[in-house]
Formats: sequence, structure tokens, C-alpha cells
Amino acid sequence: MNTTTLVEKIEMLKKQRNAVILAHNYQRDEVQEIADFTGDSLGLSRTASKTDADVIVFCGVHFMAETASILSPEKTILMPDLDAGCPMANMITVDDLRGLKQEHPDAKVLAYVNSSADVKAETDICCTSSNALKVVEKLQDANEIIFIPDKYLATYVSSQTGRKFILWNGYCPTHVKIRPEDIQRQREAHPHAKVVVHPECIPQVTDLADAVLSTTGICNYAKESDADEIIVGTEVGVLYRLRQENPEKIFYPASEQAVCPNMKKTTLEKVLWSLEKMQHEVRVPENIRTKAKGAVDRMVEIL
Ligand code: 13P
Ligand code: SF4
Repeated sequence: MNTTTLVEKIEMLKKQRNAVILAHNYQRDEVQEIADFTGDSLGLSRTASKTDADVIVFCGVHFMAETASILSPEKTILMPDLDAGCPMANMITVDDLRGLKQEHPDAKVLAYVNSSADVKAETDICCTSSNALKVVEKLQDANEIIFIPDKYLATYVSSQTGRKFILWNGYCPTHVKIRPEDIQRQREAHPHAKVVVHPECIPQVTDLADAVLSTTGICNYAKESDADEIIVGTEVGVLYRLRQENPEKIFYPASEQAVCPNMKKTTLEKVLWSLEKMQHEVRVPENIRTKAKGAVDRMVEIL
């Protein structure tokens, strides 16, 4: 089937099913192209909670579809490829978290949204890369904060807020591929360019950046900045949106190695199949959902 026919079929089925397609900023170009909304984790969660569609086709990774299910249990949440997980989210289990809580019984638990629903169910509040600093401000009365699972996001937030956290040894295997040498090399090659990176990068990389932002934060920075050239330190999928929205500017990936294989699992063919078969449905069991909802609601409220 050629791409035009594929897209036409997707559009037709979307209407029939009263479905919307949400895509993360790291999705394949052609998937971002057909999406009704493209965004970062916070933007996608907020859109999922507000849409009046009956069906959400979630083009992202598993924890994102779960978050949509936590917020909107009455909707059918579909993932075109169920194997699209987030390795970082899988680096901590509920048992790991319970152990940590036993060691620090008075600590508040802050979970990066890149975590499973059953882990979220054991936490006080979630955050995304775009609101982590503000969420930590809200927790100023807490004596101790356990921040899971991303040690690099936690380290970055700590450097900005002065708060010390109890960390977990989780990290993003894609963002750690971006090295300080990559930034230095690109800065030398493009001396007028600004450098903007994601807070999942290692501290030696965030230290070299002009701005450290979520994926949508990077897109907003690109629009608002006077810079004509920008070096981008995050998963390369975001370059599609950056180039679409700013055709007059030049973007350089900090590293071509920064590719998240899971984000690339969703294809147009799988989106069509998903709408045809109404699969794979992601539904968080009600006992876990109700426990996780408070932490997710508190995250969505904080912009
Ligand atoms: P954003 O919320 O910034 O889009 O990041 C999600 C993610 O998985 C980053 O690797
Ligand atoms: Fe997870 Fe990293 Fe992929 Fe984001 S880029 S989904 S954190 S593995």
C-alpha cells in the first residue's frame, strides 16, 4: 500500500472510531505528520485527559499510554506496538521502590512520569521533564525526597534547586549516548549556534548547554530564540518538528547516536492495524489506577 492510501485509510477509520492520534516528539516523521497532537510527556498527558474522543491511539512508549489510561479510564487507549517500552521506566520495580521507602519511611516519593503505573501507585507525586523544578518547589516542606528512577534528571533538578534527593540508579540509554565531546565538537563546528539539551543527559553535558528543557520546551526555545543555528542534545526525532516549525533555522543533532529504538517501533502500517483491529488496548487495572491517579493528577496540574 502506498503512503497516501495508508494515510487516507487511517483518516477514514479515525472518523469512524471517533479516535485521535497522539504522538510523542520522538516518533518517526511520518507518524508525527498524521498526529492530531504532538508533544512532550506533560502535553500528551494533558491532551489525553481533555479530549472528547472515544479512542486514543498512543504513538509513544508504554508508560505514556498507561498514563492516559490512568487519567481517562472511560476511553479506549490503543498502542500500535505493545513492545514499545521505555528501558528507563523498567529500571525500577514496585518491590525496589517499597525497599527504598522502608529505608526512608518519612520521605516523600517523587516519580518521573517515565515509570510504570504500579510504581506510580506507590508515589506521592509525579513530574515530567517540563515541570520537575516546579514540582520540587511544591515539596519544599518535605524533609526527604526519594526521586526515581532517573538519576540524571534528579541531579539536574538538584543543581537548580539546591535540594538533595535519595536517588535510584536509573537512566535513559539513549540520552547517555550524548557525550560532552559531541557538544564541544559541534560548538567548534558551529560557533554561533546555541546548545539546548534534555535533562536526561549526563551532568557533563547539561553543564555545557545554554538551556536544559523538555522536548516541547526545546521546540518553544527554537521558536523564541534569536539564534539561527541550534545544536540539539536529545533524541533525534525532535528534529523533524523543529525543522517543520522553523524552516529558516538550522538544527544540528548533538549526536546522531541518540536514537530511541522503542520510539521508532510505531509505524504508519501499525497505526492503521491498530485502528482496524482496535488493538493493543492498554488499560491499567482499577486498583492500581485509583492509587496512581492522585500522583498523576498532581503532576498534570503543575504546568
Ligand atoms: P519529554 O517529556 O521531554 O518529551 O521526554 C520524554 C522522554 O521520554 C525523554 O526521553
Ligand atoms: Fe525512555 Fe529514553 Fe526512550 Fe525516552 S528516549 S522513551 S527515556 S528510553
